[in-house]
Amino acid sequence: MPSSSADLSYLSDPAPARGALRAARSWLHTDAPSLSLNGPWRFRLSATASVAEDFAAEVFDDAGWDAIPVPSHWVLQGDGAYGRPIYTNVQYPFPIDPPHVPDENPTGDYRRRFELPERWSRAERVLLRFDGVEVFFRLWVNGVEIGGASGSRLTHEFDVTEAVRPGGNVVAVRVHQWSAASYLEDQDQWWLPGVFRDVTLLARPAGGVEDVWLRAGFDGGRGRIEPEVTAGPAAFPVTLRVPELGVERVWTSPEDVTPFDVGPVEPWSAEQPRLYEVTVATAAETVTLRAGFRTVEIRGDRFLVNGRRVVFHGVNRHETHPERGRVFDEEHAREDLARMKRFNVNAIRTSHYPPHPRLLDLADELGFWVVLECDLETHGFDAVGWAGNPSDDPRWREAYLDRVTRTVERDKNHPSVVIWSLGNEAGTGANLAAMSAWVHARDTGRPVHYEGDHAGEYTDVYSRMYSSVLETEQIGTDGSRAPLLHCTPAQGARQRTRPFLLCEYAHAMGNGPGALDQYEALVDRHPRLHGGFVWEWRDHGIATTAPDGSPYFGYGGDFGEVVHDGNFVMDGMLLSDDVPTPSLYEFKAVVQPVRFTFGGDADGDNGGVLIANLRHSADTSDLRFLWRVEHDGTPVASGELALPAVAAGGAARAPLPPVPVARDAETWLTVEAVLAAGTAWAQEGHVVATAQLDRSGPRPAPAVRPRTGWRSDGGTLTLGSAEFDGGTLSALAGQPFAGPRLELFRAPTDNDEGVSGAVEESDASVAGVSNAALWRRDGLDRLTTRRLRVERAADALRTLDRVSAANSARWVTVESVWSLEGEELELRVEITPSSGWPTVWPRIGVSFELPDGARPVDGARWFGLGPLESYPDSLRAARTGRFSAGIGELSVPYARPQETGHRSQVRELALTSAGTEVVRIAALPDTRGRRPGFTLSRHTPQQIARAAHPFELPASTAAHLIVDAAQHGLGSRACGPDVWPEFALRPEARTLRLRMSAG
Ligand code: GAL
Repeated sequence: MPSSSADLSYLSDPAPARGALRAARSWLHTDAPSLSLNGPWRFRLSATASVAEDFAAEVFDDAGWDAIPVPSHWVLQGDGAYGRPIYTNVQYPFPIDPPHVPDENPTGDYRRRFELPERWSRAERVLLRFDGVEVFFRLWVNGVEIGGASGSRLTHEFDVTEAVRPGGNVVAVRVHQWSAASYLEDQDQWWLPGVFRDVTLLARPAGGVEDVWLRAGFDGGRGRIEPEVTAGPAAFPVTLRVPELGVERVWTSPEDVTPFDVGPVEPWSAEQPRLYEVTVATAAETVTLRAGFRTVEIRGDRFLVNGRRVVFHGVNRHETHPERGRVFDEEHAREDLARMKRFNVNAIRTSHYPPHPRLLDLADELGFWVVLECDLETHGFDAVGWAGNPSDDPRWREAYLDRVTRTVERDKNHPSVVIWSLGNEAGTGANLAAMSAWVHARDTGRPVHYEGDHAGEYTDVYSRMYSSVLETEQIGTDGSRAPLLHCTPAQGARQRTRPFLLCEYAHAMGNGPGALDQYEALVDRHPRLHGGFVWEWRDHGIATTAPDGSPYFGYGGDFGEVVHDGNFVMDGMLLSDDVPTPSLYEFKAVVQPVRFTFGGDADGDNGGVLIANLRHSADTSDLRFLWRVEHDGTPVASGELALPAVAAGGAARAPLPPVPVARDAETWLTVEAVLAAGTAWAQEGHVVATAQLDRSGPRPAPAVRPRTGWRSDGGTLTLGSAEFDGGTLSALAGQPFAGPRLELFRAPTDNDEGVSGAVEESDASVAGVSNAALWRRDGLDRLTTRRLRVERAADALRTLDRVSAANSARWVTVESVWSLEGEELELRVEITPSSGWPTVWPRIGVSFELPDGARPVDGARWFGLGPLESYPDSLRAARTGRFSAGIGELSVPYARPQETGHRSQVRELALTSAGTEVVRIAALPDTRGRRPGFTLSRHTPQQIARAAHPFELPASTAAHLIVDAAQHGLGSRACGPDVWPEFALRPEARTLRLRMSAG
């Protein structure tokens, strides 16, 4: 009988489980009966753990309780009635007092009834399986306590045979939000308690298959299966069939279960995820698996699958959804993975815990290299110098081993899993080494990863997170004497003998990251470098509403947390609502599996295009190669390149079509590799890779046009369709249009606000101080102007301004010259900083304000780089062409408003109102051929910088145009390196030349 005495010592017990917990095994697809206990459960939440256990009795009046769905997180149910989610990155949201947790320990009691199906009476055993409960739970069936377990993202099975009976049964579950296990689950994510994965009752037949592991290897075109069957003697004979291969093995006793050759097979790879259905059957049960034949191996410093080097173009994937949290939705997950494929993602690190078991089925099927990570992180001990870190404390050894055992056993059959990872950011210590030893003993077919093993004492691959481009290059280079971080020279030498991967790089928080292409270039040059996993795939925003009712995606601090880490949880290449950010397009372009190199042989351009297949093993027979020619962005010719299939690792040259070169327009050739047929993840015609070649001919020098003079109209000066007030433009083409005003500020990106990073590489950054802080210190966001001069010549208007900020002795001189050239108004702006500006600048530009007028500006058309925003260190997804977008579409709704929307290298820009052109602007290159970019937004950078969420932006019908002579790069300094020096914007003199006319 349940007791009501509150012995809560189990909450501070590092031991992972109590009671009738079964040994971990594979999560199998079987024809043995099962009963889902998902659905509504009775639920009661208490503020502490010391509530009477009487609720677990068979007879208990729960009529007054609420209903809650299983699976779900209680903090995401009931509109705040059951507490709120908490977001922390490294910090523990409770005192660091291991293994204890506070008495304030939200405790959810769950009850439900179920009918044991009649035919289950033949079952030998009945198991109750929990696929995920955060963080510690206890289980009762019909009032009998069965046991308890922790390991939130792991599967736990209890033997409830003795407790269940035919007909009605009562199951009761008590879930504590905090326990000793919380110390092991300090991943950078929301703390989301509850029964959040499936609960299933399993009938285990006598003579069934308890577990099966089919290690399916590939060598020399042939497949080999090393089987392991866990079944009692009564289960035999056991029959394995691979119908497609005509394979049938009948094992009459356990001794018969030995490795065998299955003959010629097609191998499994992330590119060609060939699966063969396999059944393993006894008289009582048939288990169905999908085998993918592949052999993983480390040879020297190479990581190989089927003998070929793997390059990870990966993402870190968390299970997160704005409404469901970590509750799995298969349809959504499938679409998410298909999206990854469409963006050339070929690998997933399951940061930082095993996902829902079905995710691995999808990964097998769609094709991903998976680094399967154990549910472990103790990062919060960093704050106390790792004192008391469970990773090196024998009291926690059992918990560590339990976690890794559950991880490996559950998912061992998946061909997609090519590396086991012990966890993340748990310091180092004997318990991690013990986990690794256990994995090595259990699975010799897959290497072990753990980034925190800096010196390589117990793992097989060298892994780092956020190492800079320079450091990463040094890791790939033998000759480099550069010491490796946290390594003695000898340890560094050992690490250089291993394959290297970046388990995290390119922190995709807000607008960014930059430099993806620089990392990718290293992978090409140094085969020891095997690519990496962008941090991270998607934002973790939680759908909520502002006080005014506006919906938005909440982040840390939005739910009244005592400690939190703000918007550090919004660092994905996908926004919370599945919308890809420009960084994902950049990633896609950078890692595209086909590389086009134009010209390059003796004939120059006539050498055609060299098409290199960078894939692991698939040839290019699934692709077609299309080309098109555009004159100033207008298509004039198109066709298809004839090319035989190029083998993986190979290259072939295709002749280029005759390109009609325009006399008075830019001529661009675009080539694309597109899918020749639809796949499970994209339609026929989906673009896999793109490149452009500028084939523009020499352009005639523009004729010098006569300048025309002024008209004076009442008190206003007019020049063509431009009106001036005090020397400043006030209207154009009858529309209010004010400017130019020097703009040096951008609403800081998360990377601009970052303080991490390898400062030695960017002499512009100051250790420990963000660029944004320096910009605010120097007053870039609050510039003031003193007009020094207004000169009206016969054919021009010239103003001279000195722009500076309060309490600053530095300034920028801005000279604007307006003239009328033919029908067009020309503006030349000379921007000259005084000496002594100490930092990089976010931008050098001029802004124009277009208040809501008769023809309010609500969009743009342009010829330049597009269609999405681009920045100096993130230009690869951008192509030269003609684009249009509404003003809203020009900005990305990052979870925390920040700089967005810059379109680079613009030649022509039209501001539109309901689709018609209001003002046309031609941007002329400066004397060094550099072209400006533009941003069109409803808000100024200063307004954007003041908003912490999109709903805080003031309502606006105005349009703000900023034309930038230059923008600073993006970098990755929110967690990683600052902007690479080449793309960092230093104060310098710049010229802008614009020609404006009425639309
Ligand atoms: C890493 C960590 C990730 C995440 C990232 C920053 O150190 O492993 O879980 O916190 O930093 O977003």
